[in-house]
Amino acid sequence: MRIGVLTGGGDCPGLNAVIRSVTKSLINLCDAQVLGIRDGFAGLMEQRIQPLDWPSVSGILSSGGTILGTSNRANPLASAESLALALENYRALALDALIAIGGDGTMTIAQALVQRGMRIIGIPKTIDNDIEGCERSFGFDTAVNTVTQALDRVQTTGQSQSRVMIVETMGRYAGWIALEAGIAGAADIILLPEFDFDLDRIVATCRERENRERYTMICIGEGAKCVGGALTVEQRIESSPEPIRLGGVAHVLRAQLQPHLKSEVRATVLGHVQRGGSPTPFDRVLATRYGNEAAQRVRAGEFNCMVTLAQNQITAIALGQVSGRNRRIPAAHALLTTARQIGIGLGH
Ligand code: F6P
Repeated sequence: MRIGVLTGGGDCPGLNAVIRSVTKSLINLCDAQVLGIRDGFAGLMEQRIQPLDWPSVSGILSSGGTILGTSNRANPLASAESLALALENYRALALDALIAIGGDGTMTIAQALVQRGMRIIGIPKTIDNDIEGCERSFGFDTAVNTVTQALDRVQTTGQSQSRVMIVETMGRYAGWIALEAGIAGAADIILLPEFDFDLDRIVATCRERENRERYTMICIGEGAKCVGGALTVEQRIESSPEPIRLGGVAHVLRAQLQPHLKSEVRATVLGHVQRGGSPTPFDRVLATRYGNEAAQRVRAGEFNCMVTLAQNQITAIALGQVSGRNRRIPAAHALLTTARQIGIGLGH
């Protein structure tokens, strides 16, 4: 049996943990030959292969990034030629199946390839935690940990210098990182992409706190915007399947707030620091379980699904139910209620 493994989209803590688990499990359970494919779908289109065996995946569990490389630009669906190339190379490599580790973009590509005859098992990766049908993608816990630590550190400046401190998280159009880290990091206000914020409410909270606590911590997701406002786009990468890169809303909010407040307002954009570093123990275990589940599905001949966590159980969901969708925070989410009831402002 020959199984290809690739990592697609942006890097994320825990990718190497999955590669290690998939490879060791496939060798143990299926006596499989495991072929790493370099740089995501680019490697499939260009037949860039890196064989994976026991020694090559030993000692990588705790390291960030991916030993296979990845790309968020390579898209076999970009043209009929690239699609044909991906399908042709899958056959030429004599693969029995492909394990695609990635986010919503990778799952959407995977589903399109499945419809053209490839056998694929997806593994959900993203710090954003926004993959449909998945309670926890690996990488999210590590990112929440990093943001929480950043909030703890920034708070000391806020308190000592009586400032309003704004910390911006990644997450694209979903606010999971901002919500969980905001609660864990004692933010006074959490602003999420799912709910447009009212500037007057934020000003009122900051003013109240100027007279009482004398500082305010705001945690804002990069996709948040004020009522009637627009997304803050950092740049467009036209060659990427998803060209828009968000970033900088913390600076926009700083400029909006400053004229209304006595205290200094400062903004910190955390950026890629959230994607780097060693995965947390939770992410290491989750990544290991996902990798092992994917290998078990290969052994059972169950393809065209994404392994996932549902009601805290490892299971799988059809790729067709995942592709082209995004999991965002629903208005009735329990964590929003908790946040409100302990006095955190949500800006709406
Ligand atoms: O999807 C993961 C993510 O880190 C988002 O949170 C962020 O908006 C985006 O990727 C950044 O992408 P890039 O690394 O291409 O700038």
